Amino acid sequence: MSLQIRINENYSRVKKSYLFSEVARRVNAYTQAHPDASIVRLGIGDVTLPLSPAVVTAMKQAADEMGCAETFRGYAPEYGYDFLREAIAAYYRRDTARIPVTLSAEEIYVSDGAKSDVGNIVDILGDNEILIPDPVYPVYLDSNVMSGRRVTFLRGCRENRFLPMPDGIAEKPYIIYLCSPNNPTGAVYNREQLGRWVDFADRTGSLILFDAAYEAFIRGDYPHSIYEIDGARRCAVEICSFSKTAGFTGMRCAWSVFPRELTVGETPLAALWARRQATKFNGVPYVIQRAAEAALTEEGLRQCREAIEYYLENARLLGEVLTEKGIAFTGGENSPYLWLSCPDGMDSWGFFDRLLDRARIVGTPGAGFGDAGEGYFRLTSFGSRASTLEAVQRFRTLL
Ligand code: MLT
Repeated sequence: MSLQIRINENYSRVKKSYLFSEVARRVNAYTQAHPDASIVRLGIGDVTLPLSPAVVTAMKQAADEMGCAETFRGYAPEYGYDFLREAIAAYYRRDTARIPVTLSAEEIYVSDGAKSDVGNIVDILGDNEILIPDPVYPVYLDSNVMSGRRVTFLRGCRENRFLPMPDGIAEKPYIIYLCSPNNPTGAVYNREQLGRWVDFADRTGSLILFDAAYEAFIRGDYPHSIYEIDGARRCAVEICSFSKTAGFTGMRCAWSVFPRELTVGETPLAALWARRQATKFNGVPYVIQRAAEAALTEEGLRQCREAIEYYLENARLLGEVLTEKGIAFTGGENSPYLWLSCPDGMDSWGFFDRLLDRARIVGTPGAGFGDAGEGYFRLTSFGSRASTLEAVQRFRTLL
C-alpha cells in the first residue's frame, strides 16, 4: 500500500529538476553516448583553482587543534564563532575598493552557504508579495514556489541592461530579491540604481534580500554591499559567501547580515533568523570557519584576489572571441559570468545541444534562469586557463 499522507503539493509547481541537475543529467547522457569526447565545462559556476595557501595552512592548524584534547571543539556556535563574525565585520570596514561599511559582529550570521540562506529565509517570512528579477538564480523562485508564495517577476532585458528598476510598481510592501553582480547576466547595479531600490523599499516597508555572492569580482565603481547605500540598514538583509570570493564551493561557508534596524512591529527580523538557525542548523565546522577567517586576513585576501583576477582574465578571453564573432553579451567584466544572445535566433536549450554536440562545450541555457532568459546562454569563467583557451578555439571554429 502506498503512503496515505499528504505531501507538499507546491513541489508539483516547480520544474521537475533543479537547473544544474538537469544540465548534469544531459551532459552525463552525452558522455555515456560519446565516451571519448573531451568536454569543456563552462556550465555551473564552480571554482577550479585550489584553495589559497593561507586558507590551507589555517585549516591544517585547526585540524591539529581538533585532534588534541586541550583544543578540541564540539558543536560550533549556531551563528558562527566570534573570531569569524569579527573578521567578516572587519572585511566590510576595510578600506579598499569599496566604501567602508560598519556592521557589528552580532549582526552577522555565519552559515553553510548563500544558497542555503536564500532558500531558508522563506521560513521566517509570511505570505508576502514577492518580486523576483527574471532572469535570475533559480533558488529565489523555487524556494518561494515550494512554500506556496505568489511571485511577480521583474523583467530584465537588453533595453534595461538586465537591471530592472522599481518604475511603475504599485507602492506596497514586498519581499524584493536583488542580485548584483547578477547571476546569470553579470549586470551590476550602480549606486544611483541601488539607491532607487533602497528608497522604494524604505518608503513602502518592503524588505530587500540582497545577494552579494559575486561582489569580489567588482572592479569598477559599483557598490559591493547594499549597506553602502543610505537607508539600507532599515530595509535590507545581505547574503554573501566565501564560495566565489575564496574558492569555497566545496568547503561551505557564507553569511547573512541582519541589521538591528530591521523590525516588523516590535519583532526584530534577526531574532526570527536566530531562532530558525538555532532550531534547524548546527553551525559550520570549526576547521572551515578558521579557513574562512584566514581568507579574510590581508595575505588571504591578496591570494584570493589573485584567483579572482585569473577568472576575470578567463572571462576577458571568452568575451574577446564573442566580440570577434559579433555575438552580443553582458557581464564578464565585474562578474565571472558572460550572458550572450544565442546565435541564429536559437532557443537556449537548442543552443545548449548544438554547443555540446558540435563543440563539446557545456554552458547553461538562459531559459533555466527564467522565461526572460529564453534566447540567451550563460558561460562561466571558473574553468582552468587551458580549458578556457580550448573553449575559445572551439568557439572560433563553431560560431
Ligand atoms: C551557478 O552556477 O549559478 C552557481 O554556481 C550556483 C550556486 O552558487 O549555487
